[in-house]
Amino acid sequence: MKYLSIYFIGRKQGIGLRRYRLSHLENRRKYEYEGFQDAYKSIRQVRLIQNADVVWVRVRPEHTTDYERIIIEKRLKTIRGKVPIINDINIFDNYDCKNLSFNIWKNNNIQCPNHIIISISKLKNNFSNMVKVISEFIEQNNTIFLRTNNETNANGMVLLTALSTDKEIKKALNILIDRCQVFLPNRKSTQIMGVEYITPNNNQYQDIYRVHILFNKVLSFYAVTSKNIIFHNIDMVESDIERFIQLNRDLCQKMPELEEIILKSAHSLGCNLGAVEFFIKNEKPILLELNPMWGGHASKHGFGNTGFQNYLKENRSDLEKEILNVYNFMDRRSYYKNLYEHISYHVLNKI
Ligand SMILES: Nc1ncnc2c1ncn2[C@@H]1O[C@H](COP(=O)(O)OP(=O)(O)O)[C@@H](O)[C@H]1O
Ligand SMILES: [Mg+2]
Repeated sequence: MKYLSIYFIGRKQGIGLRRYRLSHLENRRKYEYEGFQDAYKSIRQVRLIQNADVVWVRVRPEHTTDYERIIIEKRLKTIRGKVPIINDINIFDNYDCKNLSFNIWKNNNIQCPNHIIISISKLKNNFSNMVKVISEFIEQNNTIFLRTNNETNANGMVLLTALSTDKEIKKALNILIDRCQVFLPNRKSTQIMGVEYITPNNNQYQDIYRVHILFNKVLSFYAVTSKNIIFHNIDMVESDIERFIQLNRDLCQKMPELEEIILKSAHSLGCNLGAVEFFIKNEKPILLELNPMWGGHASKHGFGNTGFQNYLKENRSDLEKEILNVYNFMDRRSYYKNLYEHISYHVLNKI
């Protein structure tokens, strides 16, 4: 059987003197390389971009500068249209700028939070008027995040409610203006935005769903839950386990119904690989973001804090039947083997 040739390009690979280098896979995930090697019958890395059957752009978005994008673009120009490109650099802003993702989703009838852009140039000339605009946006949406449009790890996010005073809004704005000034020289699409806060279905717990897609296939999925207003997988504690299991059990049932819209949400951004994050309200997803490179805490260590992780390990034989999705995601070596095999299968079969 013919194997597929893959070429990686990123900030540290595939460009300049590093264009022939096979190592330095950007944002390599734990056991990813081993899984890739295991898939050698289906897919192998090549040194020359012109020998590739597929090219995968791997960049950590929050660290990618405009200049690095230009360099990657120059190399990709030579092969674009000839071979498939996974997460082409020319659609970078679509997932990196949350305001752009939201616009695209709204235009495609995919639900996402309301948002407004707070123009930095308008802020310079008319600060108090922008405070008014934000107050009105809070009034319409009850609670909002004022945030930068392209940071991760919950950086650059301030929660504002109907109780927030003008003084607090101004303070939040000033914090965000300062952050933007840091990023703008290297990341020109940086903006300040207001985002509607999606209230939890259960007044204690917020549930967030994540589905990993590759081309037209769902690779994996899971739900996380927390009492915190802003949280990630790492924030789950032992007392959240029961709800986590219930949600994931339910998600296994819901997945076939959600699949089409989740794939559409990624494809509408021009992404063919990524983690789609969303809430669910009235059985319908409300899209939050797309991460092109998932590699966070769940991929490195598993779910939740150490006690949470141990519970899942110790109870695997009982729980596996109910939440196989969670265990599949944690079996990283075979997970990545499957990922790479699917790249090969998809491209060779042109499906
Ligand atoms: N519109 C929103 N409504 C409710 N919670 C939100 C909203 N946006 C973000 N959050 C919370 O903040 C966390 C981080 O926000 P997110 O936009 O996913 O950025 P990142 O994961 O890159 O830090 C989310 O996991 C969620 O807990
Ligand atoms: Mg997130």
